[in-house]
Amino acid sequence: MQSVVSLDELRTARLPFSGTVGLVPTMGYLHEGHLSLIRCAKDECDHVVVSIFVNPTQFGENEDLSKYPRDIERDLSLIEPYTDLVWMPSAEVMYPQGYQTWVEVEAMTRPLEGAMRPGHFKGVTTVVAKLFNAVQPHRAYFGQKDAQQVAVIRQMTRDLNFPIEIVVCPIVREPDGLAMSSRNVYLDPEQRKAATVLYRSLSAAKSAYYKGEHDAEKLRQVMKGVIADEPFAHMQYISCADYDTLEELDVVKGKTLLSMAVFIGKTRLIDNFVLE
Ligand code: PAJ
Repeated sequence: MQSVVSLDELRTARLPFSGTVGLVPTMGYLHEGHLSLIRCAKDECDHVVVSIFVNPTQFGENEDLSKYPRDIERDLSLIEPYTDLVWMPSAEVMYPQGYQTWVEVEAMTRPLEGAMRPGHFKGVTTVVAKLFNAVQPHRAYFGQKDAQQVAVIRQMTRDLNFPIEIVVCPIVREPDGLAMSSRNVYLDPEQRKAATVLYRSLSAAKSAYYKGEHDAEKLRQVMKGVIADEPFAHMQYISCADYDTLEELDVVKGKTLLSMAVFIGKTRLIDNFVLE
């Protein structure tokens, strides 16, 4: 596995790759969720490129950029068996002095995460577009864990004619249902137990749906009820929306996204289920 920092090094290392190239963008502090994407890329592509970059432009002013967890040595040893090339650009490589170009997807970034984290998706789409241009992959791998991110990146890829297939991999969970996240390390043991409330709440709505409840507001109420019963949890949003447009539904008909953001103490967690 070769590791590079600058754009020139990346281009030189990328040049001899023949056949298909798969890109897995990450912010590091890797866990099984990230590794599932990297393994999938390894299965499907001739070469795997992983990027590790804690992208400052997708963090809000009050968010956790400076204390975002990092452990580069561990990350490198975890990805080594599956990865040909790891790109770890510095902030100066990505956003040199005088930087002023942004990629912004409109309507789809307004609700849900976009409403709670203004400017977040502008940072995500800008950095992902830059990663796409620099690495020129045939396929790029993203996790269903960040459902709106997937929808937004798909839209950007179509709108900007990137010749890249977006591959979406399922959410990897802990045995008790908590979705794996780099932010789970912030939870103390009591909070860690309480954090299963997201999974419990989504499961309750899913089972109500499969028992015949198709009223979207009733499904939201089911999810809210489970969150309200957990003293450590503070709900930020709960949604039952169309999978593709992310518009809130009255009645569940086609493919539907149940999603939520919940604070457990100061740690903000997100999770989702798809109803087919
Ligand atoms: P990061 O949070 O590091 O996540 C990198 C990728 O791993 C994303 O596609 C995310 O959805 C996926 N992932 C995280 N937890 C997962 C889980 N439990 N199961 C499956 N996949 C999971 O998402 C980002 O970084 C950034 O926004 C990025 C796309 C790299 C742009 O900066």
